[in-house]
Amino acid sequence: MEFRHLGRSGLVVSEISYGNWLTHGSQVEEDAAKQCVQAALDEGITTFDTADVYAATKAEEVLGRALKGVRRESLEIFTKVYWPTGPGRNDRGLSRKHLTESIHASLRRLQTDYVDLYQAHRFDYETPLEETLKTFDDLVRQGKVLYVGVSEWTAEQIAQALKIADEMGFDRIVSNQPQYSMLWRIIESEVVPLSEKEGVGQIVWSPIAQGVLTGKYLPGQQPPEGSRATDKSGGSNMIARWMRDDVLTRVQELKPIAADLGLSMAQLAIAWVLQNPNVSSAIIGASRPEQVRDNVRASGVKLDADVLRRIDDVLGPVVERDPSKTESPRTRP
Ligand SMILES: NC(=O)c1ccc[n+]([C@@H]2O[C@H](COP(=O)([O-])OP(=O)(O)OC[C@H]3O[C@@H](n4cnc5c(N)ncnc54)[C@H](OP(=O)(O)O)[C@@H]3O)[C@@H](O)[C@H]2O)c1
Repeated sequence: MEFRHLGRSGLVVSEISYGNWLTHGSQVEEDAAKQCVQAALDEGITTFDTADVYAATKAEEVLGRALKGVRRESLEIFTKVYWPTGPGRNDRGLSRKHLTESIHASLRRLQTDYVDLYQAHRFDYETPLEETLKTFDDLVRQGKVLYVGVSEWTAEQIAQALKIADEMGFDRIVSNQPQYSMLWRIIESEVVPLSEKEGVGQIVWSPIAQGVLTGKYLPGQQPPEGSRATDKSGGSNMIARWMRDDVLTRVQELKPIAADLGLSMAQLAIAWVLQNPNVSSAIIGASRPEQVRDNVRASGVKLDADVLRRIDDVLGPVVERDPSKTESPRTRP
C-alpha cells in the first residue's frame, strides 16, 4: 500500500481506503463486514470512511465493532454529517445543534474519542456557512475532530468556505469527497483546479462505479445474483444510473486494456483515479474480502498516456463531465 497526504495537511492516509456505504448494517452480514475490514487491515489500508446516515446509523456501529482492539493511532477514521439521522427538523443539516449532537452520537457508535476527519456530507443552503465552520472549528479545538472536510461541494462553495475560514481564523477544509471514476469526471474542470491551488485533497467515492467498472454486468443480461444491482435493501436503486446498455457495452471493451496490463478491471479503474495527483485516496467498497484483496493491488500502478488515451477512446460519449452535476439539495431532506 502506498500513502499520500490528505490535501496539504500533515495527515497521511492510505491511497486506497475502505468505506462501508450500502454494505455494513444492510446488504452484508456482520461476519462478512468484519472479514472485509480485516482484509483491508491485512492489505495495509489504514483509512476507513463511514457516515452517520449509512444504514440509518448502523454502519458506524458495525465499523466501531470491527475496528475494536486495533491500535487507534494506526487508523484514520472518517465520518460525515448532513443527511437525516432521525425524524426531527434538527436531525439533519449542518447547524450548530445537529453537528454537535451528531458528532457525539458518531463517536459513541464508532467507540472512539475522536474522528480524524469530519465531513459535511453535502452543502446546507439553510445554515449560514459561518455557523457550520465555527462549529467545526470548535469541534477541532475540543479534540473531537482532527480535520474537517466536505463532500460533493462545488468549487464555488469550497472557495467560499476557505475565504470565510481565512478571514475568521477558523480551521480550513482539507478535503472534498466527490464521486469520481472513468465514467464520472465532473470534478476535473472546476473542483480539481481550485483544490490544487488551495491544498484541498479529493477522497473519491465509487471509483469502480459501484462494481460496474469490473465488467461483471453484461449488457442485456440479468445482473449476477448477490451483486449490488440485485440488492433490494438500497443498492439496486443506487447503481441504477449505470445499468444502461450503452455504458455496459463500452465497459466490456475495456477488458483488453486491463488484460494487456495484467490488471483486473477493478484494479484498472482504481489505478485510473489514482493517476490524478489531487486525489488523496480512493474509497473502495466491498461485499466480500476477496474484492478488497483484488482492489488494493491498484496501489502504486502507473498508467501511461497511451493507456489513458485508449480508455478515453473506448468510453467516449458515456463519460460525464458536466460540473453542474455537483449538487446538494436546495432544501434540507
Ligand atoms: N460522500 C458521498 O456522498 C458518498 C457516496 C457514496 C459512497 N461514498 C463512500 O465511498 C465508498 C465506496 O463507494 P462504493 O461502495 O460505491 O465503491 P465502489 O468501490 O465503486 O463499489 C463497491 C462495490 O462494487 C463491488 N465490487 C467491489 N470490488 C469488486 C471486485 N473486485 N469484483 C467485483 N465486484 C466488486 C461490490 O459490490 P457487490 O459485490 O455487491 O456487487 C462493492 O460493494 C462508500 O463506502 C462510502 O464510504 C461516499
